[in-house]
Amino acid sequence: MSNPRPYPVIPVIYDTDPGVDDAMALYFALAHPAIEVLGITTTFGNVTVEQAATNALYLSAIAGKNVPVTKGVATPWCRPPGVPPAHIHGVDGLGNLPQRVPVDRSLDPRSSAQFIVDMARARPGEITLVAVGPLGNLSLALKLEPNLPQLLREVIVMGGTILEPGNVSPVAEANIWNDPHAADQVFTAGWKLTMVGLDVTHRVILPVALFKKIADHHQHVATDTLHHAVGFYAGHYGSLYPHVAEIHGCFAHDLLAFIYLVNPELFSLERGRIRVATQGLALGQTIMKRKELADYPQAGWGKDVPVTQVCMEVQAEACNAVCEKTLMAPWLAR
Ligand code: BDR
Ligand code: CA
Repeated sequence: MSNPRPYPVIPVIYDTDPGVDDAMALYFALAHPAIEVLGITTTFGNVTVEQAATNALYLSAIAGKNVPVTKGVATPWCRPPGVPPAHIHGVDGLGNLPQRVPVDRSLDPRSSAQFIVDMARARPGEITLVAVGPLGNLSLALKLEPNLPQLLREVIVMGGTILEPGNVSPVAEANIWNDPHAADQVFTAGWKLTMVGLDVTHRVILPVALFKKIADHHQHVATDTLHHAVGFYAGHYGSLYPHVAEIHGCFAHDLLAFIYLVNPELFSLERGRIRVATQGLALGQTIMKRKELADYPQAGWGKDVPVTQVCMEVQAEACNAVCEKTLMAPWLAR
């Protein structure tokens, strides 16, 4: 579980739509000694962007972490807006919390896209952007600053799928499907990009019992909140997947983007050019060109499409262990 990177702490902007697994991932990032969260940029997705921003402020405040939070895009770039999936994350995005403690925090006034651009310009080549919601903030940031791919160190996206069936259609994953035009921009922008999609996130199941253990250990409102939210979320996955119900757990989705960041050796990668289907039955499908030698008559697959690293396999038990070790450590403000 060592940090294999040549520098001690990785500065990160976390682009998110919290969301239960987004909350898990946030707490992992805040708890991990090798990650410095510079800001939380919110977007619509699991909830409205207003609720996402409220949740990001709330989750960081109750954990005692004073991280800037911004509000970002409220709707997809081109397709009509959808309805947030309250049956998965709850109406409030955190499993319908019975109550919230009062917190006194307010938003950074910048838009999420402007915040990303400002931070990247201020620290060129240093920042990793971890994006775990629909990709509208990143695509807007690209419009504000076309050199963003050179200014960011790396982009890690939780989204998409190559071989695993989709979760919103037979071929599409929710984050990409929610804003496929923005996603296609992100996959063709030319940054160092890693996709952490359903091929790996559907292999890692986190039991609710782990979050109970973490909550019992810390006796803190933040980990109680997470435990509650994960219990609700697990109910959804259990109703769909018998092998998940057996464990009484949920998929690790967004959390895996951060585990990839700190423990890339737990993942097997394939490299290929990726485009996103922006219309028709395959809307939101992430299609990878897996045969580089093929010279297709279909336009859009030339060498000008940048190569993405895609996580195809993962050491699931080791990921569970990294999650447990990180969240059991003393990271919460008292
Ligand atoms: C992704 O969609 C959202 O529901 C989750 O937060 C995750 O980012 C999984 O498909
Ligand atoms: Ca998410």
